Order: sequence, then structure tokens, then C-alpha cells
Amino acid sequence: MSTTINTMLVEKRVIHPPAEFSAQARISSMEQYQALCEEAEQNLEEFWRNMAESGLEWRKPFTKVLDDSNAPFYTWFEDGELNVSENCLDIHLKNGNADKTALIFEADDGSVETVTYRQLHARVCRIANGIRALGYGKGDRAILYLPMSIEAIAMMQACARLGLTHSVVFGGFSARSLHQRIVDVGARLVLTADAQMRGGRQIPLKAAVDEALAYEGGDVVEKVVVYQRTGADINWEEGRDVPLSELETGQSEECEPVAVEAEHPLFVLYTSGSTGKPKGVQHASAGYLLWAKQTAQWVFDARPEDVFWCTADIGWVTGHSYITYGSLAAGLTQIVFEGIPTYPHAGRFWEMIQRHGVTIFYTAPTAIRSLIKASEQSPEHHPSRYDLSSLRLLGSVGEPINPEAWMWYYENVGGSRCPIVDTWWQTETGGHILTPLPGATPLKPGSCTLPLPGIDAAVVDEAGNELPPGAGGLLVIRRPWPAMIRAVWGDENRYRSSYFPDELRGMYMAGDNAQRDEDGYFWILGRTDDVLSVSGHRLGGTEIESALVAHELVAEAAVVGRPDATTGEAIVAFVMLKQAAPSAEEAQKVAETLRNWVASQVGPIAKPKDIRFGNNLPKTRSGKIMRRLLRLVAEGREIDQDTSTLENPDVLKQFSGVY
Ligand code: WTA
Repeated sequence: MSTTINTMLVEKRVIHPPAEFSAQARISSMEQYQALCEEAEQNLEEFWRNMAESGLEWRKPFTKVLDDSNAPFYTWFEDGELNVSENCLDIHLKNGNADKTALIFEADDGSVETVTYRQLHARVCRIANGIRALGYGKGDRAILYLPMSIEAIAMMQACARLGLTHSVVFGGFSARSLHQRIVDVGARLVLTADAQMRGGRQIPLKAAVDEALAYEGGDVVEKVVVYQRTGADINWEEGRDVPLSELETGQSEECEPVAVEAEHPLFVLYTSGSTGKPKGVQHASAGYLLWAKQTAQWVFDARPEDVFWCTADIGWVTGHSYITYGSLAAGLTQIVFEGIPTYPHAGRFWEMIQRHGVTIFYTAPTAIRSLIKASEQSPEHHPSRYDLSSLRLLGSVGEPINPEAWMWYYENVGGSRCPIVDTWWQTETGGHILTPLPGATPLKPGSCTLPLPGIDAAVVDEAGNELPPGAGGLLVIRRPWPAMIRAVWGDENRYRSSYFPDELRGMYMAGDNAQRDEDGYFWILGRTDDVLSVSGHRLGGTEIESALVAHELVAEAAVVGRPDATTGEAIVAFVMLKQAAPSAEEAQKVAETLRNWVASQVGPIAKPKDIRFGNNLPKTRSGKIMRRLLRLVAEGREIDQDTSTLENPDVLKQFSGVY
């Protein structure tokens, strides 16, 4: 049960896919992988054309694969038409899988509800017909603010069926954040629930929607559909609010899918960048779905009998690609879980794998690390106490997985028999980019290994020159791919400046630092910007700073991440108040006030763990806050770096108190 493994030994270790796994895998050898890479290399358009023709059902076939005449604005399969929901549901009704289980929903309290592909299709059609009856259709935008549920997935699919562009907002975001997204995307419709259940607690959702719509500009929303999940007592706005049950009543279980152009925006998902305002990452329909499906098949080696469990929330891209879209398109049976890994006890995940016979388990390093800790504290919930023999493949996503956690996961959860796919990708990439193929790629704990076929990834210096093995630099993707981000909603300049800076001459800049080893394997070193990863959630440091300075007591603030053994990174805020730095006793109170304030402005997930007060912030002579120094202070390390450009070196000493 020990978790202390020598990191150096682990890093050098190479773990080969088990022969039994490879023998049955879709991609079963490195030769097969390399052949696919070469095929893409030799004729990129032909490679994607074949995949799109065989992988998707088209209403109108495309003739053109890629249009790069307006780079970096690319279009894919532009003159083709299809419907995403038809490709996720109807295809299975036609191919004899109508009665296959699509979703196994397990609620927070352990109750289970199952739907087949036929039943899910019927539910999606009823909801889509109801949404259409309210007067919405192709080109409209809907905001979804929902708990993990069959209903949430059905509502996303219903939007796709009608050609409505959806934007899902994670339930952990506040009314303010919700409002910002509603206004930015111009949503006329909101789909929400009365409340959600997490860890035995009821957390209101509809109340936040009411608050968001009361802020300036919130009146763009005409209708709010409410899924009554808990039956909580909520406010009803006559004429605006519609119960989901009423929306579905009397609606037909057939709804003709609306054919949309390949480039029609399927969804906009807001994510953090380096300014205070989240970016609306806009994805197209065909290219996105194609890659979500193809990667589900390749990377999860999807087989008809698999029971797949991705523990992500639909509020993040992982839940979009590997719950709602890619895995349904691939015809998988999936677990959908409402609750949290530690309720009612720390063995919940393992118990669920055993109960449902899960074969593929995909989660985040932060969950693994917290369960390592929990199972040390309560050994009765250690994975070895459960029957996990149904598992054949494990996955990891969202942040680098440290080799110790990798080995623990491999040995204790996978019984040293299941390959681990450490999948590197982003909201912007739409699907996996750097990842092992489980039947082929030799694994190195801590490395997301190699690019998928068709993906031209590299590590370059700031002028775009490729770096040799062992040198850290910028992670880039040099050729476009179908699932790539199409736009930052309503902001062309931001799309260019964030992802295609001039110096890199057309390469997509991921915003991560990375290095490759002698075998060409990629090792992710962390972000190049102020984006933080806290419990696998992507948060903008600048966004939290903006929230802090919006408080009446605060003059200036800087937010950095410090490594945290469980959550990956912890948020540390350096705050200069308008009045003199507070006494220790006051500081405690002010810190609590500011934490609650950040929770109300951004969301509870963005609350700073540590707050430190000073009379100024360390700045260069040109007035730029020196975050690299603050990072050292946050970690409690000696300042051994050059501080000669610092205008006010004494200021660093003030931040000793942690609140
Ligand atoms: C980080 C999540 C290391 C990375 C799918 C990226 C990872 C950001 C990995 C995107 C991984 C994601 N190894 N780092 N396997 N996967 N990241 O948009 O910094 O929420 O840029 O998408 O998470 O986060 P996002």
C-alpha cells in the first residue's frame, strides 16, 4: 500500500502493453501506429477524407476537405451537411443496437437509472420537440446549467438535434459567471435544474439562474426550462419558467434531425485564458464530432461489450467529448455519476466499478491523488478491498500525472494488467492530441507519450524553431486538424493573438511548456500563462485577480498557483488593501470575506487557499507584477532569483503571514 516510489526509477521505467490486450486491440502495434502516421504525413487531406467518409453519416456529402485560404481560420468538410445527434443516436437504432444500454446513471444517493439507445433517442426527441415548440431553432444559443444526469446529456443532444448552439456552464460557477456567459453568447434560452445533489448536500442551481437574469442584460433570456431534480422549493417566474416535465408532455418521440453545415457551431465552451474575461471556445459540428468519435475508438479501444466511465462533469470539455458526443457516437455503454468520489465513503469509485462491471475508467490525477490519501487513512476503502477485475483500461486527463500516482493507479486500480492512457488535450483541441494507444504504445509513467496519427505536434523555441530532445519549450501543433477551435466567440483578434502569435508563423500555440525525450515522448511541464489547474479545473489567475480587485477593500491583487499534493495546484492570492496591511486578527476576517467574495464572483472552485497581505506588490520598474517571485514566496522558498529589476525589494518580506 506504500505510495513512496523512487521517482527516478519510475521515470526510466517503460511498461509495454500486455500481449493479451494488444492481441485484441484496434491498433495493436507500433508498426500499425506508424503506418497511420505516415499515411497522414503523405496526404493529410486524403487521410482526413477517408476518416470523415467512413466515420460519419452525412446528409449531404462534402467534396472539399480543408480550406486553409483564410488561415488561421480553417474550415473542414465545408460543403457537407450532417446532424450530430443523428450520428450519436439514430445510427445505433439502425444498426441493431437500439436496445443496448446507452447510459447507466448513478445518483448521489446510490440509486440507479438505465436507458437504452432507443429510450435515450426518444427522450432527446421529446425534449427537442418541446424546445422547438417554445420557438427556438437553428442559430439560437442556449445556456445549460445542470447537474450530471441523463437529462443534461439529453438536453445537449436535443440542442444538437435542432441546430441550437449550446454553452454548458459548470455547476460550480457563480451567478456572476453565469451572467457573463449568458450575455457574451447571447442566449435566449436557459436549461437548468432546481438543484443538484453532491455528497449528500443539496446545492441550488435555479436560484443562481434567477440572480444571473436579474443583472444587466440578463433579460435576453426569454425562457428557462427547469428539470426538477430534487423537488426543492424554488421561485417560479410566470411566463418565463417552464418545468421540463411540462415541456415534454404530449411531445412526439420522433424528431427529424435538422441537417446543418459541417462548420455550424455545435457549442461554445468558456475557458480561462490570460485575461480576466473567459474565452468562448467555439467548435464546429462535423470536424469536432469526427475526432471525438475517432479518438474514443482509438484511445479507449472501444469494444461493443465495454462499460465506459468518464468521471468528468459535462461542464468541462472532457464531459462534452467523452460523455455526450464521442462515446455515444462510438456506441459505448457509459456510467454517468452525479456525486463525488468520497461520498458516502472513499471507496465509492471502486464500489461503482465493481457494481457496474466497468471496463474502462477515465479520471483526473487530482481524484487519484486524493483517493491515495483517503485509502491510506481508511484502509477499508483501499481499491484492493474491491473486485476490480472487470477493468481492462485506465485513463488520465486534465493535468500532468506524477509518476508516483501513475504507479499507484497502475498497480492498485489496474492490477498491473491495464494500460494507462495519459491523454493530453485541451478545450481548444476538441479531442485527444498526445496520448498512448493502449494496444501499441510502450508507456512511461508521467509522459503523455506521442501525437495521434494526423497530429503534427512539436516543441519549439519562441521563434518557432524545433528544439532538440531534453530542451524545454513551447508545445505547438503545426498543422490544422478537424476538431480544432474555430473561433473565440465574438473576438477574432483574441483567437489570433491567443493561439497563433506572429512569431510562430501559423503554428497553433497550446499555452503549455513541454519537452521531448530521446524517444520523442512528450513531457508536459506546465502552463506558460497564468492559467491554474486546481483539482483538474482550469481557472484563470487573472480572472480571480479581477474578482479580488472588484472588492471595496482591495487595492491590488496578484494570484499565483503553488504545487499541492492533492489538488495539483492551490490558489494563492497576494493582496494589497486600500488601507494599511491588517493585523493578524483582522487579516483572518478579511481573508474569509475575500474568499466568500471570490466564491460569489467566480465560483466556490476559485476560492484562494492562502491569502497573504502586504502594503504593495513586487513590481518591475515598468510596473509589471513579478509573479515568478510571488510563486517562490507562495511555496515558502528562498528568493534565490535575480531581484535587480524589482522596484521595491522590501515588499517581499511583508507577505509572511498566511491566512
Ligand atoms: C492541462 C482538459 C498534462 C494542460 C482536457 C492543458 C494536461 C490544460 C493533460 C487544458 C495531461 C490536460 N498532462 N497536462 N494529460 N491534460 N492538461 O482546457 O495544461 O480544461 O493546456 O482541457 O490542462 O485544460 P482544459
